[in-house]
Amino acid sequence: MAKRNIDPLACAGEITHALKKGVFLTTKNGEKVNTMAIGWGHIGRIWELPVFIAYVRECRYTRELLDTNPEFTVNVPVNGVDRRTLAICGGKSGRDTDKIAEAGLTLVEPEVISVPAIKEFPLTLECRVLYREPEDASRLPEDIRKKFYSIETESHIAYYGRIMAAYRIEE
Ligand SMILES: Cc1cc2nc3c(=O)[nH]c(=O)nc-3n(C[C@H](O)[C@H](O)[C@H](O)COP(=O)(O)O)c2cc1C
Repeated sequence: MAKRNIDPLACAGEITHALKKGVFLTTKNGEKVNTMAIGWGHIGRIWELPVFIAYVRECRYTRELLDTNPEFTVNVPVNGVDRRTLAICGGKSGRDTDKIAEAGLTLVEPEVISVPAIKEFPLTLECRVLYREPEDASRLPEDIRKKFYSIETESHIAYYGRIMAAYRIEE
């Protein structure tokens, strides 16, 4: 399967726009590959490096995988995503389900890291975690805290992933 390298920061607008509808964050531990929908995230430059920051709630299975193998791919659909796929990847947990199989997704060998890309979501960032920072929800304005953090395990951890490779998967 062909890959065309891209400048990830030149695609920042496209990625940011896609986040509103849902992109995917894929992780791997041993042979287990899991993906989840994400809507929060940003791409930019920190420490003179291209970085993608993802916000993963502590209770997610993805969080467990990330803390075991701190690498992830960001998988951006370019023609939107169907509701069924979003319901599986953004509603079920990899603890109980093989979401890749259930959603019929095709894994693609990565270039640099250990976590695969996904053919159906072709714009790909391969990221290695440089830094993780748990949110301190008590420091947020009350309206936001009440809306997003009613129980403690709902806090997010921000994962700062250095973008090691970026490409579009082509047929
Ligand atoms: C559109 C959409 C965006 C989402 N964004 C996030 C997000 O940014 N962070 C997060 O922790 N969960 C987010 N979720 C929820 C997770 O995708 C969902 O809880 C998933 O089942 C977790 O899978 P896991 O347990 O296999 O990690 C989102 C769900 C949807 C449908």
